[in-house]
Amino acid sequence: MTTTARYAVIGHPITHSRSPEIHMAFAKQLGIDLHYERIDPTPASFEQTVQQFFAQGGLGANVTVPFKEQAWQMARAHLSARARDAGAVNTLWQSTGQLHGCNTDGVGLVSDLLRLGVKLPGANILMLGAGGAARGVLGPLLDSGCNHVRVLNRTAQRAHRLISDWLASHPEQAKYISAGGLDELDPETSWDLVINATSSSLQGQSVSMPALRFDADTFAYDMMYGGQLTAFLQQAQQAGCRHLADGLGMLVSQAAESFYIWRSRRPAVAPVIDAMRLELQRAVR
Ligand code: ATR
Repeated sequence: MTTTARYAVIGHPITHSRSPEIHMAFAKQLGIDLHYERIDPTPASFEQTVQQFFAQGGLGANVTVPFKEQAWQMARAHLSARARDAGAVNTLWQSTGQLHGCNTDGVGLVSDLLRLGVKLPGANILMLGAGGAARGVLGPLLDSGCNHVRVLNRTAQRAHRLISDWLASHPEQAKYISAGGLDELDPETSWDLVINATSSSLQGQSVSMPALRFDADTFAYDMMYGGQLTAFLQQAQQAGCRHLADGLGMLVSQAAESFYIWRSRRPAVAPVIDAMRLELQRAVR
């Protein structure tokens, strides 16, 4: 008798999560019988929900807002290096009865940038924002061989704190990373890649900052995504940027990394990104 492998995404709220359709598409591609559900616990019942899910035979779970730090705490005895650096866990699984955690957001971003043809080795990168989303991707970005990552945030102090926390565990990376306020943005500095890791596009707002310089080759990437250009990408386009991408590819790529952790098989991301893009565009028409 074969039993269907059970996976889930756990978050609050969770009704709009795209993870089930992404993972079901991966499973279909690879001929795997898999069930992937949405679970919406209260903040107080998150731990119990995770324990119950695995006790009842669940094989792997994605964790999303607002539980990624709680998942990190739960799996703190068995964290991957990526999860330790990110301070948050988005992928859980069990091995010999122990809960393990990883964070696939950063590696998802980097693999999407590579898919889009962005040249990361030697790149000068400007990252806007210093919250959890920024912290989650810092490690894989720095590992990509880039020349420098400058993290600027509306609240400068938060960017400085992020970088000093980072350097406390990675002192050898001091020359590759710097921090400041968005108001310190020099309009004359040119960037190879500008990443919006703020939550501004979620609220449909542009990033509050002085004019940003975009050269012919500068790439603008928003970690948020939607059926039309996000507010930040519109801002970049109006400033003359010609290479624009939103975070749909990152979403699918981070899911592919979770899938790989759970199943040791790598699904193709491109057909899933294309199908979801069509669906998103149809929804806004
Ligand atoms: P997340 O986990 O998504 O990173 P967060 O930790 O609440 O969420 O961080 C949100 C980030 O977006 C912060 O860097 C925030 O800047 P502040 O630290 O100054 O609050 C940034 N942010 C949100 N809206 C913004 C806007 N309109 N312009 C610039 N930065 C914005």
